[in-house]
Amino acid sequence: MRHDHLITSKQLSRGAIETVLDYAAEIDADPSAVADRHADTLLGLLFFEPSTRTKMSFETAMKRLGGDVVDMGSVDSSSVKKGETLADTVRVIEGYADGLVLRHPKQGAATMASEFVDVPLVNAGDGAGHHPTQTMLDLYTIRENAGLDDLTIGIMGDLKYGRTVHSLAYALTNFDAQQHFISPESLQLPREVVYDLHQQQDGTGIKEHDSLEEVLPSLDVLYVTRIQRERFPDENEYQKVAGEYQIDADTLAAANDELTVLHPLPRVDEIAPEIDETHHAAYFEQAHNGVPVRMALLDLLLSDDKRIGGDSDE
Ligand code: NCD
Repeated sequence: MRHDHLITSKQLSRGAIETVLDYAAEIDADPSAVADRHADTLLGLLFFEPSTRTKMSFETAMKRLGGDVVDMGSVDSSSVKKGETLADTVRVIEGYADGLVLRHPKQGAATMASEFVDVPLVNAGDGAGHHPTQTMLDLYTIRENAGLDDLTIGIMGDLKYGRTVHSLAYALTNFDAQQHFISPESLQLPREVVYDLHQQQDGTGIKEHDSLEEVLPSLDVLYVTRIQRERFPDENEYQKVAGEYQIDADTLAAANDELTVLHPLPRVDEIAPEIDETHHAAYFEQAHNGVPVRMALLDLLLSDDKRIGGDSDE
């Protein structure tokens, strides 16, 4: 794999992550310093699935670096409707743009697409697979609120289909983090992910639970996720778990006063709105961090910086 595609967080070392986070913090402090860095650069946006934050923050990031975007638009209005393959679509759009951002409902789509193009390709979510740029902004927000070492984090909700969870869990193995995974049994982490995490983190940093209660008081960060309804093969299976995990003020009464609550958003009903006004809530700040973090990532990838990337085993 080329060093300048970003497909999964498995390809990111601690050094690469810190490079991006440090640079994002620099940009956050003075965005005007990079306002013209990518004048004349065009980023191609290919979103085959709905997106608000990811797509708009990539667009904002590119424009704040002085560049612009070309957007495939919705699948319904593109040639995909006529039966064009993903390989053909990316090969055409790489001729228009200096980099590509791809979101696709099929796991593995970004890996496959990256094999057909020479411009940097960023995975903005491949089915239930990975979402590495969300992970970078998650890590940035965790670092700002709780620090990344000596961290105890609870990751709760749909761990089976949640790509943000998979990417975050892999990335956290680079740090001294105790990860608690909380979900109904049917939505546990895929066994191959658990296996990989144990391999990468000697097993001591990972525990699975079916209830939040037993771990909540020990957590520095609680990362809540939406049940990924659109990925359930059977709506009845979704109905069995819908609404099973909800955080409200009563839940947090047992939490550490310093607890930071994160969520990649969109939320459905996992976090009661009453939490929004508490000092625990950092999910809107987390979404805003998407811009400086994606500015840093885009600048490094488009400048062919060798510090991020590396080999992926995907
Ligand atoms: C997430 C995604 O698309 O995986 N959204 C996002 O990018 N912030 C999470 C989700 O849809 O639940």
